[in-house]
Amino acid sequence: MYELNDLLLLLRSSQPVISIQTHEEQRAIDLIKRCSVTLNKPIFQWSITRGVVDAVSGKQVLELANKAVDQNPEALSDPKQTLLSISKDRTPGVYILLDFHHHLEDPFIIRLIKELAQSHYDNGHHLIFISHEIEIPNELSRFTASFSLSLPDREALQKLIISELKVWKLKKGNETLDADRKSIDLLINNLTGLTVSEAKRLIRNAIYDDDAISYCDIDRVQKAKYELLGQDGVLSFEYETASFNQVGGLAALKQWLSIRKEAFIADESELTLDRPKGILLVGIQGSGKSLAAKAVAGVWHVPLLRLDFGTLYNKFFGETEKNIRKALELAEVMAPCVLWVDEIEKGISTGDYDSGTSQRVLATLLTWMAENRKPIFIVATANDIKSLPPELIRKGRLDEIFFVDLPGPSTRAEIYRIHMEKRESDPAAFDLVELADRSAGFSGAEIEQIVVSGLYRSMAQKQVLSQAMLLEEITQTRPLSVVMAEEISQLQAWAEDRTVPAN
Ligand SMILES: Nc1ncnc2c1ncn2[C@@H]1O[C@H](COP(=O)(O)OP(=O)(O)O)[C@@H](O)[C@H]1O
Ligand SMILES: [Mg+2]
Repeated sequence: MYELNDLLLLLRSSQPVISIQTHEEQRAIDLIKRCSVTLNKPIFQWSITRGVVDAVSGKQVLELANKAVDQNPEALSDPKQTLLSISKDRTPGVYILLDFHHHLEDPFIIRLIKELAQSHYDNGHHLIFISHEIEIPNELSRFTASFSLSLPDREALQKLIISELKVWKLKKGNETLDADRKSIDLLINNLTGLTVSEAKRLIRNAIYDDDAISYCDIDRVQKAKYELLGQDGVLSFEYETASFNQVGGLAALKQWLSIRKEAFIADESELTLDRPKGILLVGIQGSGKSLAAKAVAGVWHVPLLRLDFGTLYNKFFGETEKNIRKALELAEVMAPCVLWVDEIEKGISTGDYDSGTSQRVLATLLTWMAENRKPIFIVATANDIKSLPPELIRKGRLDEIFFVDLPGPSTRAEIYRIHMEKRESDPAAFDLVELADRSAGFSGAEIEQIVVSGLYRSMAQKQVLSQAMLLEEITQTRPLSVVMAEEISQLQAWAEDRTVPAN
């Protein structure tokens, strides 16, 4: 109940104007009403539709209205008239003004509010603005304190879930609801950062869609939460994640990630080790870096948010740093989450073609990374190391730099199997070892392409996919490792003593 005390403190310390920016209007009003008892002042509430009413009884307060009300009912709620009436009223009171932000550009109104604030010691009035978005004019900033409703913590969220479960039980009688501890914990994780009413709505949706709280609710809650927070394009919610089963090889990376999962989602208070911050995956195109990034989110069961530098630079020209900060704030509210920065070198390369914007973006990102305490795991990928800024690679920024090399023979066989199964071809019908041997130097993406083209070939020939068709595809492919042999060996040499093998 800290927020009640904080608000009372503001009111008692003779704060003439308070602004509350929130989507939870009713909760803010209720909180103010609860102050009234201790404060011993009447509480009024103004809105454009109803004029001034007593906040507790809901009764119209006619003395405050203009005499002309009979002829013109709108005068009842006229903002100027209302402020004038308040200033004439000698009984101290708290006035809640709903959605008053529309009127805060009028110089007459600003002046009226300033005068009211200046005479606070004589009249004892408080004005409290409640709006979803409010900008206080400079003239009033000295007199105004902003107050934020607190967001529910884990304990409060758990209570919310329990109370919603009770309501469900009452409605459904003897039925039992399927809800395991693990899913509830995950649900709580994913509700942090939301307001009470938003969380309540998502909890209800989760319970009532299938009379259970289960894994599949979590995905839906993550999406709904992202939508509630309003996307601005720079940070996109990736609906497609992957599982480790879809990723061939990368055993060292998988192992590294799986032993850090608990530490990643642990509560700040339970943390004994440092929370994992993130990794950089370096490797040639098509080696499965983006796939691996998706798999981290899938396996840890947290939302995958993609930071898109293309949008950052193009769409909001000139507001780049502000937008990256906004994107990072959104990630903080979505935490725990994976923040995926694909092909990071394209966003923050060391070139000086853009008058330093990308340098500033990099600086913003690095400062944030150093200060961030929230469970946000960065997975950055890079194809080209030449333009990677050294600041990013420096030890301590990220936990590890992994090199994703071309797959070895057994991994190639595994990748064949994965992509056959994905397309309903039975891997048992093929000699995977032979396929793997014959496709030395192929990347994961190229192996996938062999399977896809093979299937097209089989369709055209109206025959089932055969080993021979796949071998034919292999002979016709010139892999990148041949076309770009020199670049690749440079990359491998660079990676040698700077990175850890992911395979
Ligand atoms: N190790 C792998 N296991 C399974 N599929 C892979 C692997 N590597 C690449 N692929 C396939 O190739 C596609 C493209 O790979 P991608 O992850 O985009 O590579 P990168 O980001 O390294 O360029 C993936 O979506 C996947 O279908
Ligand atoms: Mg990629």
